[in-house]
Amino acid sequence: MTDHPRKILVTSALPYANGPIHIGHLVEYIQTDIWVRFQKMRGHVCHYVCADDAHGTPIMLCARQEGIEPEALIARVMEEHQQDFAQFAVAFDNYHSTHSEENRELAEMIYRRLADAGHINRRTIKQAYDAVKEMFLPDRFIRGECPKCGAADQYGDSCEVCGATYTPTDLKNAVSALSGTKPVERESEHYFFKLADFETLLREWTRGGHLQDEVSNKLDEWFEAGLQEWDISRDKPYFGFRIPDTDDKYFYVWLDAPIGYLASFKNLCDRSGLDFDEYFAAGSTTELYHFIGKDIIYFHALFWPAMLYGSKLRTPTAIFAHGFLTVNGQKMSKSRGTFITARTYLDHLDPQYLRYYFAAKLGSGVEDIDLNFEDFCNRVNADLVGKVVNIASRCAGFINKRFDGKLAAMIHRPELLDEFTAAGEAIADHYESREYAKAMREIMALADRANQYIDELKPWVIAKDTARENELQSVCSMGINLFRCLMIYLKPVLPVMAEQGEAFLNVKPLQWSDLGSPLLDHSINIFKPLMQRVEMEKIHAMIDASKDDLSQKTAGGGKPEPGTGHLADNPIDDEITIDDFAKIDLRVAKIVRAENVEGADKLLQLTLDIGGETRNVFAGIRSAYQPEELEGRLTVVVVNLASRKMRFGVSEGMVLAAGPGGKELYILSPDSGAEPGMKVK
Ligand code: MSP
Ligand code: ZN
Repeated sequence: MTDHPRKILVTSALPYANGPIHIGHLVEYIQTDIWVRFQKMRGHVCHYVCADDAHGTPIMLCARQEGIEPEALIARVMEEHQQDFAQFAVAFDNYHSTHSEENRELAEMIYRRLADAGHINRRTIKQAYDAVKEMFLPDRFIRGECPKCGAADQYGDSCEVCGATYTPTDLKNAVSALSGTKPVERESEHYFFKLADFETLLREWTRGGHLQDEVSNKLDEWFEAGLQEWDISRDKPYFGFRIPDTDDKYFYVWLDAPIGYLASFKNLCDRSGLDFDEYFAAGSTTELYHFIGKDIIYFHALFWPAMLYGSKLRTPTAIFAHGFLTVNGQKMSKSRGTFITARTYLDHLDPQYLRYYFAAKLGSGVEDIDLNFEDFCNRVNADLVGKVVNIASRCAGFINKRFDGKLAAMIHRPELLDEFTAAGEAIADHYESREYAKAMREIMALADRANQYIDELKPWVIAKDTARENELQSVCSMGINLFRCLMIYLKPVLPVMAEQGEAFLNVKPLQWSDLGSPLLDHSINIFKPLMQRVEMEKIHAMIDASKDDLSQKTAGGGKPEPGTGHLADNPIDDEITIDDFAKIDLRVAKIVRAENVEGADKLLQLTLDIGGETRNVFAGIRSAYQPEELEGRLTVVVVNLASRKMRFGVSEGMVLAAGPGGKELYILSPDSGAEPGMKVK
């Protein structure tokens, strides 16, 4: 499209190497991939790199829990991540790891440059220490009572009940989440990056057109609050890189994580002969873009440009932050089955549906985006199957059967084709500015125009009149050329469908510049359906399967916080309020009778006394209990659960049990002294 191709390097945030890719992550990787594919189709030189973020305490502990080395864990997870991305057609030019030689070298270099320029401080601080596990405790690994509202079992940095933020030392009755013992205070020397050294530069940079407006505004709040020194060291044991000239200090994971962008690109350069310095030396004329979620803005818009300035490297051209995914209007939730991993999605649905749906919802702002399954189903079916694919299927048959696959030599309605190609610049502008929803609307309006054209000309009527052969060929060829335009426009979003479309059209990979050269007197191939309809049953099956996935929960804390206000909580936690919890009516129950159920080898039928009232409950605990060992025991039951009609009768409640299942199932029981009917709270 241009005589001077731009040279563009694009990144997505590096996913942590201790958990699976889920549909929330995919918002970002799909958003980025669409942008990169668009740039490439426009003829620019564009490289898309990413990596696994492999360091930090949660990953170390996760490996420990599995009884393997962290290296083995991150190798396995990296493999899984790459498979997931490939199947969603997220096409990195390189995928690397922060636990790599390139990253070690670059992290050391950047650190040394910062230290030599006097931007690193050392001082001794006091921190919570787990004397049993012999390690310092990140805030997320300390639990205790909220100093403000008294809620039990809260994290060391913030209360999920009242929202208060504090330091771990404020927590009452604090315990280590690792050993359950009381943390002790211990001193240790830490290394700090003097962020305030860069205040002037950062104030300028954050107002210099590199950020979205709402992000710049958020940053103003952080400037107001004052730029704190950033603690970049961690004591052993830690899975990460050792800080040069120390024995037992490690770089905090967030120090070497963004450097992982450079490391991945360096790895690509070394393999492909690209010039690393052309892209990263100060003053580089290439473009550098980071796509990120709004929860990690602080790291990318303050620490990262400061680190780059301080080590005499180029700063990013822009940072593009996006919002979080909600599902059916709520945070992703394991219990609702809406915490859907990439893998589970792929087991049930075509990845292109999700790519299109996200594109149809995404704008350039940081608002959250909602995946509503009914809307998803309707939109994909109506737009892609009903509009786009339909155009080709209505015309292809006649061309294949009546004209031996040959398209007409003339355009039937040139002004309509002009209208289609003229829309290209507006659509390109929308892609460029990440207004994908607007691009999709324009494209679907064109698809409507194409269908109208076919409805008007009625090739199926023309086909009945042997005297109108030429007209039939002309009209159907026109339809196919309109379809081809739509394929060009949709290709960044639907690369797999576009590839099948290219095979059907019998053309080389479509580029944006192909818009101006319609297919005339050209042979096409037999048309095969390009996409199946979405079926609601498959969506339900996917949600059910996600409910079963509870065992996939990974160990360890959430995202480390930068220590200052943040824009978002990660919505993957199944957080409920105290009011939500109060809705559940839990009672002590006495098991009066327990019997096997004929024809159901997993169930026991329990007769429960819940204090003057008797309930009939079917419980899936037969694999772990003989009926006679249960009779007379006390347990805990949910009494206000909607009753469920089962094949064997109605179940009027739910007995609580712990464990993975099979023989390992343990029903809960209160201490002696509790009476049937007592409320559990
Ligand atoms: N490892 C850090 C990033 C380091 S970048 C130098 C991290 N990893 S993450 O796995 O938690 O998230 C990776 C990306 O996915 C982040 O940009 C994050 O914002 C994004 N998302 C994670 N959950 C998301 C949703 N539910 N919705 C949208 N994006 C989400 O952060
Ligand atoms: Zn509180």
